[in-house]
Amino acid sequence: MKDLKYYLKKAKEEKWAIPQFNFSTIEQLKAIINVSYKLKTPVILGTSEGEANYLGMEEIVSLVKISKNKYKIPLFLNLDHGKNLDLIKKAIFLGYDSVHFDGSSLSLIENIKITKELIKIAHKKNILVEGEIGSIKGESQLSSKKIKILKQDLTSVSDVEKFVKETKVDSLAVSIGNIHGVYKKMPKLDLKLLKDIKKISKNFLVLHGGSGIENKEIKKVIREGIVKINFNTEIRIIWKNSLRKYLKNKNEFKPYKILNLVQNDIEKKLEEKVYLLNSNNKL
Ligand code: 13P
Repeated sequence: MKDLKYYLKKAKEEKWAIPQFNFSTIEQLKAIINVSYKLKTPVILGTSEGEANYLGMEEIVSLVKISKNKYKIPLFLNLDHGKNLDLIKKAIFLGYDSVHFDGSSLSLIENIKITKELIKIAHKKNILVEGEIGSIKGESQLSSKKIKILKQDLTSVSDVEKFVKETKVDSLAVSIGNIHGVYKKMPKLDLKLLKDIKKISKNFLVLHGGSGIENKEIKKVIREGIVKINFNTEIRIIWKNSLRKYLKNKNEFKPYKILNLVQNDIEKKLEEKVYLLNSNNKL
């Protein structure tokens, strides 16, 4: 079966993007697998540190591996926003397909140093590393608050230049106005900044905070070279609202019946995203 690098390259050449869907429950995982199978799309299954710790990394790796072989579909695991170096190394050791090192709160020198160290370990096992320059604000939840992005939060082009030259990182998460979560007022994306980053970075460019961004904006960033887009909040919202709705049926006690309905609702949302990113029929 082809690896993640193959699909990232293909997406880059053909101008579409691979979705990263985060999950922390079995019905979310099953929804992602079903959509990948049905729509013939590669997908990246994202687990944050919290999500990975909740389900258990060993369990996650086994479940994804079994499903990948059973359905012959390109499912790839990514540790999302790894900050704890022991956990990142564990993901590499257990067989995640890629790890995202979030060194955004560190100095550039420190970020470069640790990213390089991780790349050395990861590449020996053919595992990709996603770095991050700039600070992506917000949390993956629905919020009535307003969020303000400062200039210093955005990706600095000169930092990117140093970072990619020194680390030779595989993928790069950028901060171009994107935020995690769905906030009352979503910031606008800075396409000019994305174009400037692309001029000097040949890496696979990643957009975090896919939830809440207008479809036309998503299409634009893909045209400008983004090849991976992460979604979490919109999946969490559907999960919560749907579960609440089906639990109202006082006569139903079977978890697999209730959760199957939740799974169907999540699948509809994921399908929407796959068509938006145009990653269907790409196997
Ligand atoms: P959203 O929660 O905004 O979809 O962002 C998810 C994400 O970027 C995970 O890294």
